[in-house]
Amino acid sequence: MRNLTSNVLVAYASKHGSTEKIAHWIGNEIRGNVDVVNVNNIHNLNYDYIILGSPIYDHEPLPEMSNFINKNKEELRNKNKSVFVVSSDNEERSKREMNINALTKIIPGEINQSAVFAGEIDNSELSSSEQESVNRYMNSISKPIGSYSKLNEKKCREFGKSLNTFI
Ligand SMILES: Cc1cc2nc3c(=O)[nH]c(=O)nc-3n(C[C@H](O)[C@H](O)[C@H](O)COP(=O)(O)O)c2cc1C
Repeated sequence: MRNLTSNVLVAYASKHGSTEKIAHWIGNEIRGNVDVVNVNNIHNLNYDYIILGSPIYDHEPLPEMSNFINKNKEELRNKNKSVFVVSSDNEERSKREMNINALTKIIPGEINQSAVFAGEIDNSELSSSEQESVNRYMNSISKPIGSYSKLNEKKCREFGKSLNTFI
């Protein structure tokens, strides 16, 4: 029989808050006992279902997410799980694939669902080295430099809802 009250963990990493917002939107749509927790504060993986989410910085997931995955590799292998990444460069399919692969390639075992969401940048929040790095990056993909928000709450919530079929 299906477990009616699954325990679900949405484990996220976030430097400037957009992935955290998305993690909560997703968590709000999931049926069961849902914990939405920063990877830095996760102390056990006693959950029936796990959703891992990270932004992409300089083509990679945040180091705290990679470290969390490496540290828990064996336990994660047999977990039911889904993943999402948050990034700025996702208009082309090849870029979306590159960004999601940067996370999925380090996750052991099967992944039910994956999604790529557009994020946001608030230049006034960035350190000068981050501004330099992001400006270099935006130039390299021929995108305008500066703050932007492409968060799409509805799309994020729809992803959360779609996960209920696996939980
Ligand atoms: C310094 C810096 C580097 C970034 N590098 C990339 C990148 O390589 N690829 C990409 O698609 N987005 C990149 N982004 C965009 C972020 O993924 C996006 O702003 C995301 O929403 C940040 O998530 P957070 O607010 O949870 O930290 C970069 C942003 C910054 C500030």
